[in-house]
This record gives sequence, C-alpha cells and structure tokens, in this order.
Amino acid sequence: MDFENQVAMVTGGRRGIGLAIAQVLGQNGARVAINDVAPEEEIEKTVEELKKQGINARGYVADVTKKEEIKAVVQDIINTWGQIDILVNNAGITKDALFVRMKDEDWKAVLEVGVQGIYYCTKEVLRYMMRRQYGRIINISSAVGVMGNVGQANYATAKAAVLGFTKSLAREVAPLGITANAVAPGFINTEMTKKLPEEVRETWLQQVPLRRWGEPEEVAQAVAFLASRAAGYITGQTIHVNGGLVMI
Ligand SMILES: NC(=O)c1ccc[n+]([C@@H]2O[C@H](COP(=O)([O-])OP(=O)(O)OC[C@H]3O[C@@H](n4cnc5c(N)ncnc54)[C@H](O)[C@@H]3O)[C@@H](O)[C@H]2O)c1
Repeated sequence: MDFENQVAMVTGGRRGIGLAIAQVLGQNGARVAINDVAPEEEIEKTVEELKKQGINARGYVADVTKKEEIKAVVQDIINTWGQIDILVNNAGITKDALFVRMKDEDWKAVLEVGVQGIYYCTKEVLRYMMRRQYGRIINISSAVGVMGNVGQANYATAKAAVLGFTKSLAREVAPLGITANAVAPGFINTEMTKKLPEEVRETWLQQVPLRRWGEPEEVAQAVAFLASRAAGYITGQTIHVNGGLVMI
C-alpha cells in the first residue's frame, strides 16, 4: 500500500482503532489529520507520537457532532495540504443500558456521534473529493450493527445506520471516482471495551471462533486496504474484522 502524496482525515483518532488507522496510513506515506474531543494536550501527545514515527500529522480538537467545528477542521486541512483523499469516520461512543432503562439522552448521544457526526464529516469532505474526482470514504460500523446486542439498542441502531448510509453514498458518488465502504469490527482491545466486566468479556470470547479479541491494528489493515488505490473496484461493501463472530 502506498499513500504517498495523499491526505487522510481520521475522526476520533487520538487513541484505539482511530490511532491505529492513522498510524498505518501514515507509515505508508499519507499525511494524516486526526480530530477528537479529548483534551488538547492528549491530542497533542498523540500527534507528537505520530511525528516521532516519521508521520506528517496534524491534530484538531473538534467534535464530530458540531458542524462548525468540523467545517473549520476540513478548511484548515485544505488550506494546509490542499486536498483530502481519504476520510475515515471512526469516532464513536457507547452508552449501554437495557432498552427499557435507557435514558433519552443516552439514546440521543450515541446516535448523535455515530450517525450525525458521520453526516457532518462526510458532507464537508465530499465537496473537496468531488472537485478532484477521487476519494475513499471508510465508515467504522460494528458487528453489533449486524447482529444486535443486549444493552446496546442505541449503539446497534447507529452502527446499522452506518451500513445503510455507506451503501446509498456509494451508489451516489461512484460516478465521481469516489468509493464508500464500511469496516465492521467485532470485539477489539481498546479503552471502549476495557470497561466491560470480565465475565461479559469471557462470555463473548466463547462465541469468537478465533478465541481471542482483535487488535486495533487488525482493523486498521482492513481500513488501509479499502483506502488504497488497489481497492478501486470495491464500493458499498463491508469488511468484517471479527474473528468469525458474525459470518455473512
Ligand atoms: N473496540 C471495539 O471492540 C469496537 C468494535 C466495533 C466497532 N468499534 C468502533 O470503532 C470506533 C473506534 O472505537 P475504539 O474502540 O477505538 O474506541 P475509543 O473509545 O478508544 O476511541 C474512540 C475515540 O473517538 C473519540 N470521540 C468520541 N466522541 C467524539 C466526538 N463527538 N467527536 C470526535 N471524537 C470523538 C473519543 O474521544 C476516542 O478518542 C468506534 O466507532 C467504535 O464504535 C469498536
């Protein structure tokens, strides 16, 4: 994979899967911009780490649910690097509860980040991809969006929506030289899943044919492939990185 002369934007890129994606794209030559809601010093630390690895990186404090903030980020990337070739909509949150007990604000918050956030980021970046008649959009869904999960009705709804959005967008932008695909991870070792109780982790592990949790880098490799020129005839698809948890 060669991303020389390409620019990537990775949302929620400060840690976990987003950071791994930024690293793989950057190590293969892309200039990488990450944005996150984390405190500025945390984002700066991540950017410094990326730079130490020889990656040309920029970091932004910006919330994907805030249209104006995303607009400013995209404008700054364009002013600095002139283009955006790859957009990875990675930012996501969970606020788990059984549906009957789920709070209105927790339902809303998960959809706001997982769906509205993708809308704002894609809308903003797409304008510039259309001008250059080239682009790779990769949306991070989840195995939960396909199979559902107890206690995650909000999250499953958001992640299923991502798949419908990806397919519709793929059909619309195909004539413009732009592809849109999704990656649906299973259970991956990150801060998001660390907060699950040990017995829940163990129960899930029994359902994973490969009998282990995935690593962020393993998701990042699938994203990088879809982001590459080699994946030019793939659009509207989902790559499942889940150790066999769901087989479609
Ligand atoms: N870890 C898993 O097992 C798993 C499985 C399937 C899908 N996913 C998805 O992968 C993506 C990355 O998850 P992760 O496990 O690395 O989680 P994580 O919590 O480690 O990282 C997510 C990042 O997104 C950021 N973020 C949250 N809200 C944001 C907002 N409004 N604007 C900008 N940034 C925001 C967070 O600050 C964090 O840095 C998410 O979309 C998640 O739903 C994760």
